[in-house]
Amino acid sequence: MKTNEQTLSLFENYLAQIQYPEEPQQLYNPIIYSMSGGGKRLRPVLLLLCCEAFGGNLTEALPAAAAVEIFHNFTLLHDDIMDNSAVRRGKPSVYAKWGGNVAILSGDAMMIDSFSRLSALPQEKLPRIMEIFTRMALQVCEGQQYDMDFERMERVSVVEYMRMIELKTSALLAGSAMIGAVMGGASADDCQKIYRYALELGLAFQLQDDLLDSYGDEELGKPIGGDILEGKKSCLMLNALSRADEADRVLLRTLPFDETLPAEERIARVKAIYDKYDVPHLINQQISTRFDRALAILDTLSIESERVEHLKVFARSLMKRKK
Ligand code: IPE
Ligand code: IPE
Ligand code: MG
Ligand code: MG
Ligand code: MG
Repeated sequence: MKTNEQTLSLFENYLAQIQYPEEPQQLYNPIIYSMSGGGKRLRPVLLLLCCEAFGGNLTEALPAAAAVEIFHNFTLLHDDIMDNSAVRRGKPSVYAKWGGNVAILSGDAMMIDSFSRLSALPQEKLPRIMEIFTRMALQVCEGQQYDMDFERMERVSVVEYMRMIELKTSALLAGSAMIGAVMGGASADDCQKIYRYALELGLAFQLQDDLLDSYGDEELGKPIGGDILEGKKSCLMLNALSRADEADRVLLRTLPFDETLPAEERIARVKAIYDKYDVPHLINQQISTRFDRALAILDTLSIESERVEHLKVFARSLMKRKK
């Protein structure tokens, strides 16, 4: 079996030979920029690792791996418009560099491209994989809509938040993992377990994403505090709102939009309230719980324990992420 680094380089080599047309440049250059912009390739690597765990053929699974990575990058192009984000992976976002119209259309083209790559998969597996892919793609849209709806809602429960991140983030990781398991010929029961493993990982991953957005360092590649300024109902904000006294709750609701204060000051004051109620510590505990659950599910698969070692390594490396 390949190490996770070898799996990543196998995927990078496959992606590198994908050619996009030269014209129209304003359509394809942003796609090339996004696809070669330093993404971690988590979803395709996870897909390939799941395929290999069940003894599948990695070469056959590569078009599916490319499809999920292209789809993911499409979601980022549109996400940066929705979140008003000028920086991604330490560089101008497509939205900031080319404008909203280009980000919409290049994103659309990437979404179409992602679906079209699935036709290269073995015909007997295609209907099942199409079903998983379209379901997860629609779930991402549903999650993104809830994420935006929540910005305007005064009260959002933790249950509603968890459902939202399950849709916007976990669905794509879980769907990718399941496609890999299907490609590997896993049983229906193991496919479900792999799905739940990646779903838990995805929840931990988005909780981390929220935490890093306020507490990360420059390695993150995004300006710190973006979620606060955008009025996001992040897990930090929701946990702070539920723990704070009435006076601090009012501040948490108003500070992000207080135009009389410089942005840096708004971020610092909101974070001071998070710290006062020990929110980062609380979120770290929730992240660990999710990772533990993900790892525990792997022990229930029907395959030998050596075969899931790489999926454990994958989960553990995600736990330590700083970007
Ligand atoms: C960013 O995902 C979007 C979220 C779901 C939080 P990644 O952190 O996997 O993005 P890249 O591709 O590695 O930049
Ligand atoms: C992203 O969530 C989820 C999707 C792109 C579908 P975020 O909006 O938190 O991701 P970042 O922080 O911009 O990467
Ligand atoms: Mg977003
Ligand atoms: Mg965003
Ligand atoms: Mg984020």
